[in-house]
Amino acid sequence: MVLEIIRDVLAVSSTAAFLTLILVVCEGLILNYGSCEVMINGSRKETVQGGKSLLSSLQEKKIFIPSACGGRGTCGVCKVKVLEGGGPLLPTETPLLTKQEQQAGVRLSCQVKVRGPLAIEIPEELFRVRQYQARCSRIEDLTYDMKRFTFELTEPDTIPFTAGQYVQLRCPPYKGSREEVMRAYSIASDPLENRRIDLIIRRVPKGICTTWCFEYLREGDPVSFTGPFGDFYLRDTQTPKLFIAGGSGIAPFVSILWQMKHADDGRQTVFFFGANRTEDLCLLDEMKAFEQALPNFRFVPVVARPAPESRWSGQTGLVTEAVQRSFERLDGWEGYLCGGPGMIEAAIRVLRQMGIPDEKIYYDKFA
Ligand SMILES: Cc1cc2nc3c(=O)[nH]c(=O)nc-3n(C[C@H](O)[C@H](O)[C@H](O)COP(=O)(O)OP(=O)(O)OC[C@H]3O[C@@H](n4cnc5c(N)ncnc54)[C@H](O)[C@@H]3O)c2cc1C
Ligand code: FES
Repeated sequence: MVLEIIRDVLAVSSTAAFLTLILVVCEGLILNYGSCEVMINGSRKETVQGGKSLLSSLQEKKIFIPSACGGRGTCGVCKVKVLEGGGPLLPTETPLLTKQEQQAGVRLSCQVKVRGPLAIEIPEELFRVRQYQARCSRIEDLTYDMKRFTFELTEPDTIPFTAGQYVQLRCPPYKGSREEVMRAYSIASDPLENRRIDLIIRRVPKGICTTWCFEYLREGDPVSFTGPFGDFYLRDTQTPKLFIAGGSGIAPFVSILWQMKHADDGRQTVFFFGANRTEDLCLLDEMKAFEQALPNFRFVPVVARPAPESRWSGQTGLVTEAVQRSFERLDGWEGYLCGGPGMIEAAIRVLRQMGIPDEKIYYDKFA
């Protein structure tokens, strides 16, 4: 009985796979969409070769839409508003779009195929995003699985960016990864020193781009990236600020703290940095230097599970628990969060309960 079910399931799956393959081959051989016009924001017209995703068609025209998963339809970062010609919403898009976005015509540009004329709307600032060539000038170990990469710009030789923004690093094909992919990394350096950028990258086991960064990229190698992207930046309000980061989520805060240092920022700011073990802590000396330069800034490292032999005497448990222990309420504060989706979602729940409204919680989710 069980064997028969397995046989039937295999038969159906292989038939479906075969039919999909035929469809893909036929589409490539028979359908020729020719040149298609894409009208952008009602004023800029681009002619692209049909048949590719909207994301890559725009990229060929040097219009860089952010994409954190390299077009796999999993990050939801590549949203654009399609006014005409996008075709029906795909099942791959619906989980990543809210009901309001769906009604407003927002689509995932990596999933929309250009098959005819299109009319789209994108934020004007994306026209300022550029492609940069650089040289990897320094690779520094921060922990056993985190490194800081310094890229000196070659063409263009400066990058204007706001502290908190990110770039999309191009990971070329290498042994074990046949296709070029792009991955998002927050800029972790002084926005005034914009002839170079630092990235803080945590290794993801079997991750395509992080494996390349850790095993293939060497000091002196050329690199390329697009940017800057994102709206994670310090708001210009007098409200006290609470920063929460986990792991490589510390990266945009380094840049934001440089900006605060240059401005002699006296606003009350507390930064909770979560690590699993003491070995996962990094940049402690740099954070101490920021504490000395900024009179109202406090850095609170929190170690979830310190080993007894580490003699850790600081805060323990989850970073959100440390926040709850340190404050009764956070009414009148702003929250800035950066790190993995689990940490961000937990932190949003806690900050809401403690009195920070949703519109004052800003985050970059490393999805
Ligand atoms: C706006 C933004 C900014 C970011 N900034 C940074 C940064 O400053 N530093 C940084 O290190 N990363 C950052 N990231 C994450 C980064 O873009 C990549 O997702 C990450 O480096 C993994 O890429 P990869 O190609 O090595 O792994 P992939 O090949 O994409 O993933 C391999 C597998 O690992 C899983 N996976 C992916 N990411 C993680 C993770 N972080 N932890 C556990 N499993 C994972 C995937 O689901 C997949 O199954 C940022 C992401 C976003 C969206
Ligand atoms: S690029 Fe990630 S969903 Fe489109």
